[in-house]
Amino acid sequence: MTPVTAALWAAAMLMGLQGSSSFPDSRVDLSSKNLSSVPRDLPRKAESIDLSCNHIQLLHGGDFKNTPLLRFLNVSWNSLKDIDEETFLDTPLLKDLDLSHNGLRNLSGQQYLLHTENLLVLNLAFNKFLTMTLGSEFSSLVKTGDIGTWTPKHQYG
Ligand SMILES: *[C@@H]1O[C@H](CO)[C@@H](O)[C@H](O)[C@H]1NC(C)=O
Ligand SMILES: *[C@@H]1O[C@H](CO)[C@@H](O)[C@H](O)[C@H]1NC(C)=O
Ligand SMILES: *[C@@H]1O[C@H](CO)[C@@H](O)[C@H](O)[C@H]1NC(C)=O
Repeated sequence: MTPVTAALWAAAMLMGLQGSSSFPDSRVDLSSKNLSSVPRDLPRKAESIDLSCNHIQLLHGGDFKNTPLLRFLNVSWNSLKDIDEETFLDTPLLKDLDLSHNGLRNLSGQQYLLHTENLLVLNLAFNKFLTMTLGSEFSSLVKTGDIGTWTPKHQYG
């Protein structure tokens, strides 16, 4: 190997390594995959997961237990009816949560928010809330003024 080829080879290796350390599995796109539940095999390094446009009805405690680095989660355009209180117990870094366009009905029953202490953006627009009463679980978020996009829209039906 000439010095030049060696240098190029080393540079290519380095770029390859950098590429693989900043990218692999950190963004997971599972949008429009006809999913009816959160897959069990989410990669541990996932920081951003797009589950939009599926048929997921429930989020369970443990659904995200293998993705402790999760920061962004999009579950919009599903058929969510309920979200377990424990769902985000293992994802303390979560800061952006899109739950818009679902079938959530009870705005005062969003207890999972008790475990999302770093949440900055919460989108609950276009659900099926029957009343607009905020539960006490919202108070910690509202008090800190942390909610950027807090935009529920009343849906009839
Ligand atoms: C989507 O999943 C359902 C079962 O969950 C299945 O019956 C249906 O055929 C699937 N549709 C497509 C387009 O894969
Ligand atoms: C979530 O996914 C939907 C549908 O793919 C998209 O329209 C929306 O912009 C996404 N939300 C965010 C916050 O990126
Ligand atoms: C809504 O959630 C609150 C708080 O969890 C609960 O007390 C209430 O019974 C729920 N209402 C309905 C209609 O499910």
